[in-house]
Amino acid sequence: MPASVTLRALASPTKGKASATNAREAHPFLKWVGGKGKLLPRLQSLAPKPYARYLEPFLGGGAFFFSLAPHDAVLADVNDELIGCYIAIRDDVDAVVRALRRHHYESAHYYAIRELNPATLPLDERAARTIFLNRAGFNGLFRVNRSGRFNVPFGRYTNPTICDEPNLRACSQVLRGVELKNADFECVAASASVGDFVYFDPPYVPVSQTANFTSYAAGRFTLADQARLARVFDDLVSRGVHALLSNSDTPLVRELYARHEIVSVQVTRSVNSDPAKRGPVGEVIVRGVPRRVRASRGSAAKPRHPERLPDSSVRSRA
Ligand SMILES: C[S@@+](CC[C@H](N)C(=O)[O-])C[C@H]1O[C@@H](n2cnc3c(N)ncnc32)[C@H](O)[C@@H]1O
Repeated sequence: MPASVTLRALASPTKGKASATNAREAHPFLKWVGGKGKLLPRLQSLAPKPYARYLEPFLGGGAFFFSLAPHDAVLADVNDELIGCYIAIRDDVDAVVRALRRHHYESAHYYAIRELNPATLPLDERAARTIFLNRAGFNGLFRVNRSGRFNVPFGRYTNPTICDEPNLRACSQVLRGVELKNADFECVAASASVGDFVYFDPPYVPVSQTANFTSYAAGRFTLADQARLARVFDDLVSRGVHALLSNSDTPLVRELYARHEIVSVQVTRSVNSDPAKRGPVGEVIVRGVPRRVRASRGSAAKPRHPERLPDSSVRSRA
């Protein structure tokens, strides 16, 4: 498990949403496998109102974060390139825009930039490289080989936008004062307290042997990690934290979260390498409502399996 590295701890004391203009304008500046764009209305309808801090430990493209635009937030991911990119946009969007303008959509340029070692670049150029590779690479994938080198081939597009300056500036505004961490989800969840809201969008449990979208960073997200995540989810809810989680609709996921409310959703995904398999897929959104809130709502948030409610029943799970 990677150590937690807090890159800046400056959560804004102001709670609530960013200004209406920015909240409307800002949307993910990266295309990210598993992006939640199409599920936003469902996620928003299941979010607690109100909540104190917003925490998103599997940030990716951050679609839900940008749609909520909370001032007081902690965002994290194990992908250090990704978090470095968010930090650069938050702290010096002018420099990122300047560096991004030097890129152009052309195959030879793409492969030359892909060859660069990001660790040798200043933060603004490193962020521009990440955004450029994401915009010009095949399907917006972020995939690295065993030694951690980005290995996605050039993508075929008609005139793709490499530098969406208005959106980058809107994202920078929404990120102002937000804490960004390159850390494992468990360490971020541990910092949540009563009244906070945590949204988990982990790499999904594979629905088939070939469906494997876990190479976002050099490590893999195993079934043991899925079980660890379910224990963290249970623990948060029992500590008075609101929790929401997306995952695939599989027997394992339904078993891991059986004591919480499970909402089925159908989503069209376009990440399968076989176009014939890019149809609607079953996903679930799991909602963990702290007991005190649940009691005050009456039957509105009844758990699916009330007989499995005692906290002790989940502590022993593998
Ligand atoms: C499904 S994506 C998130 C999609 C994102 N919510 C969006 O809207 O685009 C999963 C993310 O989890 C990150 N991740 C994988 N293992 C992790 C771990 N152990 N702790 C934190 N983040 C992890 C990956 O780097 C990836 O960005």
